Amino acid sequence: MIDKNSPIPIYYQLEEKIKTQIDQGELQPGDMLPSEREYASQYAISRMTVRQAITKLVNDGYVYRKKGTGTFVSAKKIDQPLQGLTSFTEDMKARGMVATNRLIHFKVISPPLSVTKALNIDSSTPVYEIQRVRLADGLPMALETTYISKHLIPNITEKLLEQSLYDYVENSLGKEIGEGTQIIESSTVNQNEITHLNVKKGSPVLLIERHTYLKDGTPLELVKSSYRADRYRFMINMQR
Ligand code: GLP
Repeated sequence: MIDKNSPIPIYYQLEEKIKTQIDQGELQPGDMLPSEREYASQYAISRMTVRQAITKLVNDGYVYRKKGTGTFVSAKKIDQPLQGLTSFTEDMKARGMVATNRLIHFKVISPPLSVTKALNIDSSTPVYEIQRVRLADGLPMALETTYISKHLIPNITEKLLEQSLYDYVENSLGKEIGEGTQIIESSTVNQNEITHLNVKKGSPVLLIERHTYLKDGTPLELVKSSYRADRYRFMINMQR
């Protein structure tokens, strides 16, 4: 219950209580939360305190508000392990979800300096710039911009980009993907992400920059992705 004599703030106790109910499945994704008034009378606390707890849960992505209707439990976040160099398609498959892609643009560009450096090419080498929305079970998860040298993979087509790029590189071209490095930082959505990820202004995203290399050391791709931070969290196993 809520302990009013505890030094732990009341809003925080309520927040933790609701979080536990969500984590333990007592409240399921899509369920409507009791109203502020109901919580207030159930725990004999003020509606302001209830609102504070719920706002915190909204900001942390556990629940979302629907205008004029109520507050609902969000879909569970995907725990993405950081070990292992996997593709989006593999990641979703491992969770029993189906990955699809929506191609936003696909063009050949003269690479800017940052891309020539990452791909270890000169500025006269044509580069594919591919932007795709990555969806899981039909829901947009990430907006991804990929740079690949056209000399390395000459025959990328729009059709092919509906499928897994890693699968094409490995299984159709027989090129072995070796390793990658990844930098993750936080941000909020820009206008392009608001449109393609179907989120509100101010929503948090995780920006990921991945550099991937073939087994022989040739740079394969530079990828800049924005993952919805309300749907994703990253997990790593640590040894000591
Ligand atoms: C992830 C990585 C990208 C990589 C992609 C390949 O999304 N962040 O760097 O290009 O997987 O995914 P797929 O093989 O499904 O196209």
